[in-house]
Amino acid sequence: MNDITLTATRSLLRLLTCGSVDDGKSTLIGRLMFDTDNIPDDQRAALEQDSKKFGTDGANIDYALLVDGLEAEREQGITIDVAYRFMATPRRKFIIADTPGHEQYTRNMATGASTAQLAILLVDASQGLLTQTRRHAFIADLLGIRHVVLAVNKIDLIRYDQAKFDAIATEFATLATRFHFETIATIPLSARHGDNVVHRSENLGWYSGPTLLEHLETVEPAAATSGPFRFPVQWVNRPDANFRGYAGTIAGGTIHPGDTIVVAGSGRSSQIARIVTADGDRAAASVGDAVTLTLADELDISRGDSLASPDARPEVADQFAADLVWMSDTPLLPGRPYIARIGTATISGVVSKIRHKINVNNFDELAADNLALNEVALVNIALAAPVAFDAYHANRRTGAFILIDRVSNATVAAGMVRHALRRASNIHTQALTIDRAAREARNGHRPAILWFTGLSGSGKSTIANLLETKLHLLGAHTYLLDGDNIRHGLNRDLGFTDVDRVENIRRVGEVAKLFADAGMIVLVSFISPFRAERRMAREQVESGLFHEVFVDTPIDICRQRDPKGLYRKADAGQIRNFTGIDSPYEPPEAPEFHLRTTTNDPNALADDLLAALRPQLGLTGH
Ligand code: ADX
Repeated sequence: MNDITLTATRSLLRLLTCGSVDDGKSTLIGRLMFDTDNIPDDQRAALEQDSKKFGTDGANIDYALLVDGLEAEREQGITIDVAYRFMATPRRKFIIADTPGHEQYTRNMATGASTAQLAILLVDASQGLLTQTRRHAFIADLLGIRHVVLAVNKIDLIRYDQAKFDAIATEFATLATRFHFETIATIPLSARHGDNVVHRSENLGWYSGPTLLEHLETVEPAAATSGPFRFPVQWVNRPDANFRGYAGTIAGGTIHPGDTIVVAGSGRSSQIARIVTADGDRAAASVGDAVTLTLADELDISRGDSLASPDARPEVADQFAADLVWMSDTPLLPGRPYIARIGTATISGVVSKIRHKINVNNFDELAADNLALNEVALVNIALAAPVAFDAYHANRRTGAFILIDRVSNATVAAGMVRHALRRASNIHTQALTIDRAAREARNGHRPAILWFTGLSGSGKSTIANLLETKLHLLGAHTYLLDGDNIRHGLNRDLGFTDVDRVENIRRVGEVAKLFADAGMIVLVSFISPFRAERRMAREQVESGLFHEVFVDTPIDICRQRDPKGLYRKADAGQIRNFTGIDSPYEPPEAPEFHLRTTTNDPNALADDLLAALRPQLGLTGH
């Protein structure tokens, strides 16, 4: 960038560009930056050189080369990731998020759009609106962008024909009625020739609206500083007994010392005492400012809590409906636990239901039991505890969340909250008089969950059955939950797809928890092929209660044994989704017990287990 100094007096506009290589998107951004003097001299010289070497416009300057910076991109002639570019004019500063238009990159668009205030949807005048234009408009709307420019590029190719341009503008205006855009500017231009990008063009004498740059310099997105105060607490700063401050970034509104706030979760209130920053105390702070706040009273506040204005409080709930963009190659499975990050809160959560997914090309609503990469759906989310949030349309900072895979730590989804689900708050936990301790005393031993996992035919049920018999003889209160049996009753509606297995294990995990709460030693014998659900079953009971028993039998041995003849059928293609054949098994990484059935006899393994467990169960026996 050249030496324009960015002063605080010029406003900042964040924009997103959507379109494909063929629409001339890179050329448009290059042209915009070039004609506004945002390209330093040395880069201009390099551009002329490069245009001769790689350019697609003969001897003329190829402006796309300015933005398609990477060699690989140049050679393939495509843009491959979200890139941020900075630009300034005397009137305004701009941050341009540039995302590719290929279908598989919905994810990138969601990433680039999360803070954008305006989207430029690029169309080729000779092609008119395409399916991808509908998709771009849909996602821009979904992500809360309220200002759009329809840049009708390559207007030279249709000989600057007003009637054709008007037809495109009308078609887009009709499409846009289903969205929530506040301003729509439809602008004819030619990025290649520079018509109407920064400079007016005589070729477009019939057009009386602004150039692209004029529009970008004057459009006025609503300022988030006017909304209600929101402050998700990032950390509690307590260097000594005399100072307790709450650090974070203001996510909505403006605050001053003396203003009253409430802690969203507890409802307790206090007044702002000081607004502390590295440059000294301030008399006010607003959205986007990173500050440390101190309060007049000592309240119980920790990371993930949210301070808010008392007369416009955020929602506090553990269930909500949300729009979700799935960003992972591994499909979303309802019921599988993910880590949800919303505001500064990090908490375990599941997608409890996919209400419908949306075909982003034609907006059809479709039934779905999972979501693949780049799919968009309306879902219900259930969290492990209540958190504070707003509807995304009211506040994009406090209404947005992400889901993180618990095993890989990758971000797998971006979500936008629609509204809290009230059903959660109408169900209360009933306090019971007879508690676990009472049951334990009566039983004479501690409860436990012994979770047997392994391939079909590995010997889980055989060993679990032997162990239960031995425990029973010692007077223990036991119950064996076996996959084959439970699938005849409670889970008879479930098959063997990934989605159904997740639900199978979720239910049996809940049942095991109830039996353990009843004081029993519960033996669970399910293939339970996925780590995530076994972990969920483990984490929902208190630590020390759950024992994972990996019945480790190589698949070749299971196949030889084939007690139910199922491997034979699966190998013959008569059973689909068979574990170990065309459905995965994820072995435990750190099971409490690792049993190898090829070298040990089941009865001996059951004896070993019993010997190891007896002290932990407090089982003295007779
Ligand atoms: S799990 O994967 O969802 O945990 P579960 O333990 O309930 O499976 O059920 C496994 C039992 O169902 C197997 O022992 C086998 O008898 C039977 N079965 C039928 N079809 C399949 C299949 N496609 N994959 C695995 N097991 C199957």
